[in-house]
Amino acid sequence: MSRTDPSSPVPSAGGPVGGASGAAGEVLLQASGLSKSFGDLQVLRSIDLTVRKGEVVVLIGPSGSGKTTVLRSLNGLEVPDGGRIEFAGGPDIDFSTPLRKRDRFALRDRSAMVFQQHNLFPHKTVLENVIEGPVQVQKVRRDQAVAEAEALLDRVGLLEKRDVYPHQLSGGQQQRVGIVRALALAPSLLLFDEPTSALDPELVGDVLTVIKELADEGWTMVVVTHELSFAQAAADEVLFMDGGVIVERSGPREMFTNPRHERTRQFLDRILNPLHEDEA
Ligand SMILES: Nc1ncnc2c1ncn2[C@@H]1O[C@H](COP(=O)(O)OP(=O)(O)OP(=O)(O)O)[C@@H](O)[C@H]1O
Ligand SMILES: [Mg+2]
Repeated sequence: MSRTDPSSPVPSAGGPVGGASGAAGEVLLQASGLSKSFGDLQVLRSIDLTVRKGEVVVLIGPSGSGKTTVLRSLNGLEVPDGGRIEFAGGPDIDFSTPLRKRDRFALRDRSAMVFQQHNLFPHKTVLENVIEGPVQVQKVRRDQAVAEAEALLDRVGLLEKRDVYPHQLSGGQQQRVGIVRALALAPSLLLFDEPTSALDPELVGDVLTVIKELADEGWTMVVVTHELSFAQAAADEVLFMDGGVIVERSGPREMFTNPRHERTRQFLDRILNPLHEDEA
């Protein structure tokens, strides 16, 4: 990754843009016409997505609708069959031509993903987990990486846990370390894939609070989540996906109170009323 000022305690290649939530900032990411098939199954059909600096985009939709595949495509973990992904400052990739290795690496540099399960290395301490990417992949000096990691752990209230192993942490603490590990890569864009869906209910709030604080600080993010109260509070735009297409997009209030499409309405109904009590 191109860290332009290696001496800076706050990585200058990425990070928050400062209180831009809701503002129509500069475009950071433009994805257009993304398509992807696995064998005969077309999972993404011409997905268009614009993310401005400082914006929070929330992606909702039923299981199998393609949400994870969108995030993985943006992060270079999945290669679309067609379409284009353009980041301000590069890369600008047209997937109708073979993907060059350096473009794929460049794509992976721009964003960092937080998964449903934290995916921490079990045999490494919290600190070692956080500095792994910066030191091994980005070739950041170890002492600098440690200082940055400690500042980030402190930020989420976990500095005292720096030398323990993941199994010694609660699920919520592990997930917060997962978030710190993503932040330590100094990405331009944070991608969250259902970051709280594997947590016990009482741990969900702590993790969502951290994500909301990052949003308030101006981090740019795409979040797959069905925590509608979080989306209501944090999202600038909500996208509803179904069957590999974005069926509807609007601000959270409009989406949740007055969805335009029947499919959106049905989906929101199922989330808000999982037992279908009114049909009993
Ligand atoms: N590597 C793969 N090989 C084959 N099929 C895949 C692969 N990854 C995803 N799929 C299929 O693509 C479709 C979309 O998957 P995706 O994980 O993007 O959905 P999702 O919206 O994230 O669902 P969920 O809410 O369950 O996480 C699913 O039908 C899934 O089975
Ligand atoms: Mg998924």
